[in-house]
Amino acid sequence: MIADDRDSHDDPLREALRRAARMDEESCVVERLSQASLTAAARKRVQGTAIGLVEAVRKSTLTHGGLDAFLQEYELSNREGVTLMCLAEALLRIPDADTRDRFIRDKIGEADWEGHLGHSRSFFVNASTWALMLTGRIVRLGAAERDVRRFIGRLISRSGEPVIREALIQAMRILGQQFVIGRTIEEALAQAEEDEGDYRHSFDMLGEAARTMPDADRYLAAYERAIRAVGAAAAGRGPVAAPGISVKLSALHPRYEPLQRGRVMKELAPRLLDLARLAKSVDIGLTVDAEEADRLDLSLDVIAAVSGDASLKDWDGFGLAVQAYQKRAVPLLEWLGVLARSQRRRFMVRLVKGAYWDTEIKRSQEGGYDDYPVFTRKASTDVSYLACARLMARDERAFFPQFATHNAYSLAAVLEIMGKRRDFEFQRLYGMGEALYEEIVPEEALGIPCRVYAPVGSHEDLLPYLVRRLLENGANTSFVNRIVDEKLPVEDIAADPVAQTAQLETRRHPRIAVPPRLFGDERTNARGYDLADPLTRSALATRLAGFAETTWQATPLVGGDTKAAAEGVPLTEPADRRRRVGTVTAAMAVDCERAVSMALAAQPAWNG
Ligand code: FAD
Ligand code: 2OP
Repeated sequence: MIADDRDSHDDPLREALRRAARMDEESCVVERLSQASLTAAARKRVQGTAIGLVEAVRKSTLTHGGLDAFLQEYELSNREGVTLMCLAEALLRIPDADTRDRFIRDKIGEADWEGHLGHSRSFFVNASTWALMLTGRIVRLGAAERDVRRFIGRLISRSGEPVIREALIQAMRILGQQFVIGRTIEEALAQAEEDEGDYRHSFDMLGEAARTMPDADRYLAAYERAIRAVGAAAAGRGPVAAPGISVKLSALHPRYEPLQRGRVMKELAPRLLDLARLAKSVDIGLTVDAEEADRLDLSLDVIAAVSGDASLKDWDGFGLAVQAYQKRAVPLLEWLGVLARSQRRRFMVRLVKGAYWDTEIKRSQEGGYDDYPVFTRKASTDVSYLACARLMARDERAFFPQFATHNAYSLAAVLEIMGKRRDFEFQRLYGMGEALYEEIVPEEALGIPCRVYAPVGSHEDLLPYLVRRLLENGANTSFVNRIVDEKLPVEDIAADPVAQTAQLETRRHPRIAVPPRLFGDERTNARGYDLADPLTRSALATRLAGFAETTWQATPLVGGDTKAAAEGVPLTEPADRRRRVGTVTAAMAVDCERAVSMALAAQPAWNG
């Protein structure tokens, strides 16, 4: 049985982690810089390793043939990149053909696909460019001037936009396949075995953001089936050596929301516990993915309750992902270290940078919150990643470290931090980072294991994941994007983020204003309360409690006089109609007439 409602308010480390949620960026980065710094000699070694890795990756044929090259060609800063993302995000979601056609016309017609043709050596890029360019031409077709146009003209007059629609959906599926290892767990396991070599895998059933309980039930069943199948393939190798499973809590319950804590602890936590027990029974690892920042605090309650359950004792396979882009990352690990000791367990901790950066920025701006939960400069996230890595390395008993990154500098720094230790692993995403890890994983290289996070499922469930990959890799600050840009010198790509950040005048990005300053000098953004934050909630509740005994009287106010013609009627609280909060008196015609005549009488004085 899950021990519910452990009172985290009395836990000073939990309190510190909550206070750090939207802390001032300047002081947070200064703190992380001191936690991340290595000695000058160590930094020199890291830089040397990173440069070597970047050069090797640039030379590798693995870099030029696939997705990395594609993402480089379609960076987000151009219209085609944006178009591609809009398509990926929306096309497969649109249920009716007519709207899909209108959407294609809207998004494809404007883009300059022709400009990209022949830019890249990769067949994959050129093939996609051709497909999109042709589609662009079809949609914009005027008079058929050139051969291609004439050909397409015939095509469209014969088959029309439905054909393009299907072709595009197919193209999106092909793009998706780059990231998905298989449609079913059986297909995925077979593919993993084929690719395996020195790699381990963690399968993710591509469920997230369940909207209804039947959706959540379907994802839960998929996870259960997958754990059984992975367990059979693992054949008792244990959570470290065997393939494992990654779970998103948002897939397991449609109301996985901070304000539904009661339901989440009662209904979602037992679901995670069932999955964890199943994983323990077949002795594989189970990792809880990290999702949006507003779910972090709640996820920690779920995780602490589940990992502390007596039935999971003596199983070292329970894991979670920690996002270094959050200001809370270091305090979170400090809290987790203490939890590990109190539960006498070692957590598998996958250290990532975080995949929801754009969402976090946008949500805080929309909400009008005081500040962001994430850093605004990419280099600060890199610094925080190193601070977290050092902290994890120091606490061997609490953490089995899993460093998930495609960034050669972060990887080189981790190698330095871990020294001679080999009780850790790297992780990469399926379809990414192959060339980098070819320099690390094989015995003849460093022989350090890497686990591949491998999504499993159908294209319908892939979209949010795909959009996150396109967003993060399309950004011109991303390592994957920079490494294939041959104009950029190796030294820049392998630059030390600590040195870069330390010399900045301001650690906050000058072009990303804090949410209240979103509109600059024009006006202050409307203020909101972050109800996901327990500290904000309790402060608000205290203020509201101050009004609990107040009896409110609402009356018309005419010339400073609250006497009104009508009687007041009782007013009840909208959230609880049994509670009377006061009375309200409506203005009657005579009150209005009195107000008008007083105003008219006062007019000469105004004019004068
Ligand atoms: P880099 O190019 O070095 O870093 C890119 C990252 O920097 C961005 O993703 C973002 O986090 C950060 N960033 C970009 N711009 C800014 C900015 N202006 N200010 C501050 N920070 C910025 N992500 C999750 O959220 N949850 C998971 O459970 C998760 N699981 C993963 C599992 C594996 C095996 C891997 C490899 C990644 C996983 N990720 C997860 C994705 C991860 O968070 C990163 O998005 C991705 O790996 C890119 O980081 P990088 O070090 O490879 O690349
Ligand atoms: C994501 O789903 C990999 O968990 C990470 O984006």
